[in-house]
Amino acid sequence: MEAIRILMDEHQSLAAIIHAIRHIIQEIKLGRLKPDFPLLDAMVNYLDEYPEKRHHPREDVYLFEPLKARTNEGAEVLAHLEREHAAAEERIQKLEKALQYYRDGAPDGLAQFSDAFDAYAEFYRFHMITEEREVLPLLHKYLTPEDWERANQGFAQNQDPLGGTKKSDAPEDFAAIFSKIVASAPAPIGLGAGPYKG
Ligand SMILES: [Fe+2]
Ligand SMILES: [Fe+2]
Repeated sequence: MEAIRILMDEHQSLAAIIHAIRHIIQEIKLGRLKPDFPLLDAMVNYLDEYPEKRHHPREDVYLFEPLKARTNEGAEVLAHLEREHAAAEERIQKLEKALQYYRDGAPDGLAQFSDAFDAYAEFYRFHMITEEREVLPLLHKYLTPEDWERANQGFAQNQDPLGGTKKSDAPEDFAAIFSKIVASAPAPIGLGAGPYKG
């Protein structure tokens, strides 16, 4: 199913970027990388624009809605995931606030930003695992060919520009940001090329 291929692709790219950002934070802590605030800003902005504003809404509309229309099975886990989708703004605000605190020069700014990002990463790990392990099997069991057709069309729109196989109409700068992040991340995610040079 094209919709599921795109969903998994976006989960993978989100996991990769979270891994890379955590690595960058670690390198800053170790004094091997200077904080690049415009880049950190751009990363938070990416998380807001794609995973939060475009990935989850497509799951709600093209997968969860039709599933709820076909069965009660999984109702509880769907309600839980929908609540998590609805809290997107709150999640991003926490990251933005922590980043601002760090940028303002607070002595514990890096520690606070690092903790906020770890919490974000941990949340996503469970969120994505739950979708993949608990919801995907139900979709395969209950969605009709018409549901899949609609989902495939819906998921083909507004794809994550960092996903591996998309046809992207996204602004170029996200791809450029990702190249920088990947260049500074260790293998197997990155190129293992050491700190990027801005
Ligand atoms: Fe989701
Ligand atoms: Fe998802």
